[in-house]
Amino acid sequence: MDGKVFRVLIISFLFGSLYLGVKAQDRVSVDSVANGIYRLSVGVPEQFTPYKFSPEKPNLAALNGLSKGELPFLLDEITMEVTDRGGRVRVPLQDDEKLYGFGLQIGSFQQRGLKKKPVVNDHPMNTLGYTHAPQPFYVSSKGYGILVNTLRYTTFYCGTHTEKQSQRKTIVATGEVKATTEELYANKKAGSYVYVDIPNCSGVEIFVFKASSMKEVVQKYNLLAGGGCLPPMWGLGFKYRTKTDFTQDGVIRVQNYFRKKQIPCDVIGLEPGWHTAAYSCSYVWNKERYPNHRAMLDTLRNNHYKVNLWEHAYVHPTSPLWKSLKDFSGDFLVWGGLVPDFSLPETRLRFSNYHKQLMHEGVSGFKLDECDNSDISVGNATWGFPEMSVFPSGMDGEQMHQALGMLYLRTLNDMYKNENLRTFQDYRSSGMFASSIPASLYSDIYGYHDYIEMICNSAFGGLLWSPEVRQSGSKAEFFRRLQLVLLSAHAVVDSWFLQNPPWLQYDRDKNNANIFLKDSLEMENITRTLVNHRMRLLPYLYNAFAHYRMEGIPPFRPLIMDFPNDNRLYDLSDQYMMGDNLMVAPLLDDSGKRTVYFPEGIWYNFNTHERYEGGQEYEVAINIDEMPLFVKEGTILPLADPLQYVANNSVFDITCYAFGNVDSSSSTLFEDDGISYDFERKKCYNWLTLKVKKGKGKCIRTGDYKSRRYNIVEWIFVK
Ligand code: GAL
Repeated sequence: MDGKVFRVLIISFLFGSLYLGVKAQDRVSVDSVANGIYRLSVGVPEQFTPYKFSPEKPNLAALNGLSKGELPFLLDEITMEVTDRGGRVRVPLQDDEKLYGFGLQIGSFQQRGLKKKPVVNDHPMNTLGYTHAPQPFYVSSKGYGILVNTLRYTTFYCGTHTEKQSQRKTIVATGEVKATTEELYANKKAGSYVYVDIPNCSGVEIFVFKASSMKEVVQKYNLLAGGGCLPPMWGLGFKYRTKTDFTQDGVIRVQNYFRKKQIPCDVIGLEPGWHTAAYSCSYVWNKERYPNHRAMLDTLRNNHYKVNLWEHAYVHPTSPLWKSLKDFSGDFLVWGGLVPDFSLPETRLRFSNYHKQLMHEGVSGFKLDECDNSDISVGNATWGFPEMSVFPSGMDGEQMHQALGMLYLRTLNDMYKNENLRTFQDYRSSGMFASSIPASLYSDIYGYHDYIEMICNSAFGGLLWSPEVRQSGSKAEFFRRLQLVLLSAHAVVDSWFLQNPPWLQYDRDKNNANIFLKDSLEMENITRTLVNHRMRLLPYLYNAFAHYRMEGIPPFRPLIMDFPNDNRLYDLSDQYMMGDNLMVAPLLDDSGKRTVYFPEGIWYNFNTHERYEGGQEYEVAINIDEMPLFVKEGTILPLADPLQYVANNSVFDITCYAFGNVDSSSSTLFEDDGISYDFERKKCYNWLTLKVKKGKGKCIRTGDYKSRRYNIVEWIFVK
């Protein structure tokens, strides 16, 4: 092709490889990577790909337990070629097919009919695909997935275009003149392919996931990256982030406040002010604000708090890291700071060796900010590095942008992992194959409805996304935001610009002027009730995460994944599943009620135990101190007595609620030390199986973990 000679690199993994001729000059090689996962490639393979950076090896044993899967077309109907522009891929589409995914999409859920360009950015641009966590990966309602293994800014035309050669019908001119927009646009024919445009490469590699359902595609994708993540138990508790300019005294006051008021809290997060320089970052404690940070960390540890520190990756000239990373960073600065090339093991080592002192002082995790790009200019600030940047590894700025969030996260996660410690971090950007790293994405965008939909979208790509609460316009708005946060992966109130907790004053200006709400005491009581609900759900959530880790099943996911035959769910992105048994239907406005769609079966209101018949909608009222949660019939739901925090030796007293007919049902609980990797390295864990036999509840414990975390105290039967 154009005088270029392409070497087709065939990496035979488990099975042999074969050639499928697409065009005489472009040979596509096909390899089987794992059960039902195929790699198709053409041209010269790219040097830097997301899969090369995958932090863990595939979990082949778990993958083999899944179905072989099917495709609604033949593998050789996928065409791939390389032109002077780059790669070009065409994948068939069935008429009734729906598409999902592309990472943490904002503003759209079902993606067929859209042009999607998943590019990393802190700000979405309509539905084009700009997002904190872009993924060139989609999942089809027909039960398969297509992943383009590239860090190039890739565009997917999702059934939007038709090629000249596929226009088969004879078109007859009628002489009619169309007058309205609808009539004129009626000729806009839907295409029967997804076209993928991958510029700036001389070879393309795609992964095809064959499965029996969308849920299984996602499982396979997650297991290819080693599985999902299992955060430490404390990571699933409640987190409070203090204002940027807080001082040591302020932090001490806040931690006293939570314990005194008996509002559960596991993690206190500090924002930029803890550094001597930010933005960019020094990673050095600011002595003016934190004159004795070690004493503060001791107090927090003694009161059973974990500490999380804000930072971003850009290294300030005064930082001790500057000298050591000068030759291991890109050729442009961001906020005057170095951009470390985390693709190099040496960079990761230098960065984490420095951070080790913070870890050893008692810091349990970091908030990795601004690892996404931005097109927003603030004054003449440089917010992000240009795409033409060059990094020592040979990566360019475009590739680094798409990979930075994941590589940065991996660097700090590995640091904890090497000490056999789990952490749960916050990060603002991710990419591909990040499911195995315990961390949740966040965003400055504050669109409430977007926040709900993002929980649904994140599930397709092994991502955890969590909304956060800051200011609000009303009491009702504050509590529905808080409910949503408490029903997401990472329950965080982010007071980075608020002097006081927002339940005492949700208006930003008044909060910072220390003017409290008249009913602040009531607000505080409701907050406590809601956070306690989260703590009751903690063992249930931890179990959902254990299944995520081992089987790749996302703990938070849209309803269409669990009820694939219900076509009313194709576009439903304002309700979602939390684990296998609970459906979340967040309030959508301040009215205190909403229309909830119940999929097939019987459902129960978590708060009132009211019963609903599935396959229809109901208008449901949810109080501000309740959870917008619904329980599937047949569920055995373990609920804990709420703890104030999760300590290493915490034991949860559990009441099992059996909903409706539970004759053939069972649930599990995952029991281990909650903090280390011993569950994997030494197989040190138990499964508890909860069952009902002859009207009596039973708990069967299997496994090698010797201590007890769960104590089943009572069974309650809900009819
Ligand atoms: C933003 C971040 C916020 C907060 C703030 C502090 O970039 O999204 O959550 O951390 O920085 O300056």
